[in-house]
Amino acid sequence: MLTQPIEKVEVSLENRSYDILIGDDLIKKAGEEIFNRFGAVKTVIVSDETVASHHLAPLKTTLKKTGLETYDIIVKPGESSKSWSVLEEVTAKILEAKLERKDLVIALGGGVIGDLAGFAASIVRRGIDFVQIPTSLLAQVDSSVGGKTGINTPHGKNLVGAFHQPKLVLADTSVLDTLSPRHMRAGYAEIAKYGLIDEPEFFTWLENNWQDVLKGGPARQYAVAKSCHIKAGVVARDEKESGERALLNLGHTFGHAFEGATGYSDRLIHGEAIAIGMVMAHRFSNRLNHAPLEDAHRVKAHFQALGLPTEINEINGEKLEVKQLMELISQDKKVSRGTLTFILTKGIGRSFIAHDVPPSEVEAFLMEELKRPC
Ligand code: GLY
Repeated sequence: MLTQPIEKVEVSLENRSYDILIGDDLIKKAGEEIFNRFGAVKTVIVSDETVASHHLAPLKTTLKKTGLETYDIIVKPGESSKSWSVLEEVTAKILEAKLERKDLVIALGGGVIGDLAGFAASIVRRGIDFVQIPTSLLAQVDSSVGGKTGINTPHGKNLVGAFHQPKLVLADTSVLDTLSPRHMRAGYAEIAKYGLIDEPEFFTWLENNWQDVLKGGPARQYAVAKSCHIKAGVVARDEKESGERALLNLGHTFGHAFEGATGYSDRLIHGEAIAIGMVMAHRFSNRLNHAPLEDAHRVKAHFQALGLPTEINEINGEKLEVKQLMELISQDKKVSRGTLTFILTKGIGRSFIAHDVPPSEVEAFLMEELKRPC
């Protein structure tokens, strides 16, 4: 397959602006890209055992080849590494390596590593520079862009964290070939989200080209670059989520509740949870008279075609319960003056923020959904 030219998307945030580079073999070119931008900095790579076994050696080789001093910190894979104890270990090792503010922490991995390493970088010496090298589709199109970093606590997911923008994102699309089909599909759900938020033509393009996106090559690179471009625009306009950025949570209020109810386990991974959540957000919007039901059918048909789950009752294991889901939803989105904030839609590509959703409507809707066949 022919190598595509590297694409560049800028996240414009005045003196904190940065580039996202998208293309094949970027890990092998990381030394050069970093040296040309930041000079002879010291680097600490944070990764997990699984990602490190595939991609650490080539990354270290390119960094060393350009004369960059490099250390690495390898943690266990999975959500459990986004914890106080692992954060403590990572920050201690960054200090041991004597990194200064202009040196670089490099996050090599999926969303967990990006969040953990980015948060460690944000607090050591009150902020060390960092670079994201996302290795999952989900991280390439969403979590590595926009500066959200953090860890989980017993009170919930991502409840301790900081906005700390990276200095550079290197999205190496060739590493996606090592992902399982399940993780590819899950990452794809975040790509589809951008079409559903406010780019109906992009959603139509995905309906026609999803097989090529999953397969790799120019269609996949286009979809990753387009997603980064859309997210970069949202982040530039609303970095700290005081308005528009909340739209990126389409399908996430339901999705997070399903992830919580299934213990953030392999039973349901994030992209699958939000695929179900996005179908439900369209159906819920119809119930509240905002959107035609056909659009919910269209979203469901698209996700079904590529093998993503679309109904609560497709979640493996014990049946979920309304009471628990309602508790999780009100924890995720605080009830304010008796109402909940949800991302709803007037149809495909026409999402909006609704601050006035009565919990009773959500509960009645969930009861109906739980009775739906798969
Ligand atoms: N993943 C949602 C955001 O970055 O705002």
